[in-house]
Amino acid sequence: MFNHRHLLGIEGLKPAEITALLDRAEAYADRARSGTAPSPVLAGLTQINMFFETSTRTQASFELAGQRLGASVMSMAMQASSIRKGETLIDTAMTLNAMAPHLIVVRHPHSGAVNLLASKVDCAVLNAGDGRHEHPTQALLDALTIRRRKGRLHRLTVAICGDIAHSRVARSNILLLGAMENRVRLIGPPTLVPRAFAALGCEITDDMQRGLEGVDVVMMLRLQRERMDGGFIPSAREYFYRYGLDAEKLRAANPDAIVMHPGPMNRGVEIDGTLADDINVSVIREQVEMGVAVRMAALEMLAAGATAL
Ligand code: NCD
Repeated sequence: MFNHRHLLGIEGLKPAEITALLDRAEAYADRARSGTAPSPVLAGLTQINMFFETSTRTQASFELAGQRLGASVMSMAMQASSIRKGETLIDTAMTLNAMAPHLIVVRHPHSGAVNLLASKVDCAVLNAGDGRHEHPTQALLDALTIRRRKGRLHRLTVAICGDIAHSRVARSNILLLGAMENRVRLIGPPTLVPRAFAALGCEITDDMQRGLEGVDVVMMLRLQRERMDGGFIPSAREYFYRYGLDAEKLRAANPDAIVMHPGPMNRGVEIDGTLADDINVSVIREQVEMGVAVRMAALEMLAAGATAL
């Protein structure tokens, strides 16, 4: 069913594995809505969360997911840890490994750091976002939200808009949506949309109006200023004028198009605040809800593999 020791990225997952994970997550989401407690399938297991970068929703979501399934969950404050004292990532990993956890959830500012860590420890590792590389659980929760709203996860046209260059969310979504045979259109200023993504089958444009024509899903991205080292955009105001999503630009999309954002949002920069709150089109709240369910499914599937070793 899910034949992987770790969840490091969408790359390498087969469509059937993605579907199995989403089916399991959907069952958890439905159970949560009906108020039924899930079985404590992770009882007796230890989950350690190591976030080397700040996070609100992803960290809270992984904590809740583990707790709801009965795991002992420990979140390390990595900013205050011995990393500050000069310890390397590998030394930290080996120290934690000696405590024999079953699952480690890692977020790290460097692309590839989570893969490196996974190669050094004995337990299952889940990537909660590494640099600009991958953020697999975000793409999975986006996919589940789309599937629930659109009734399918294939043959849709999805626009991913904004700061693609610095976004691990975009990369993981491009891989997942492509694997499930959707059309992906990337929209943004040329400085923020690498042409290389055309090789993955994406259409690329710098014109919002043209790019949004006929799309079923509009996925907005945050301007990742902390990853920019120069002038990628003229000004936030100019950026909103050309690339910020508001009700008027959205008119180019299909009438039943949904609007998504992984959070945290910059209201008035990449998305108009009123549109983000409009429950007739925005599914941003549901994305957060699906996040917990997807992480429950991912933790459960990896734990099943780890305990079978
Ligand atoms: C994203 C991330 O950290 O990559 N946020 C998230 O996980 N919900 C996107 C972002 O920071 O803009």
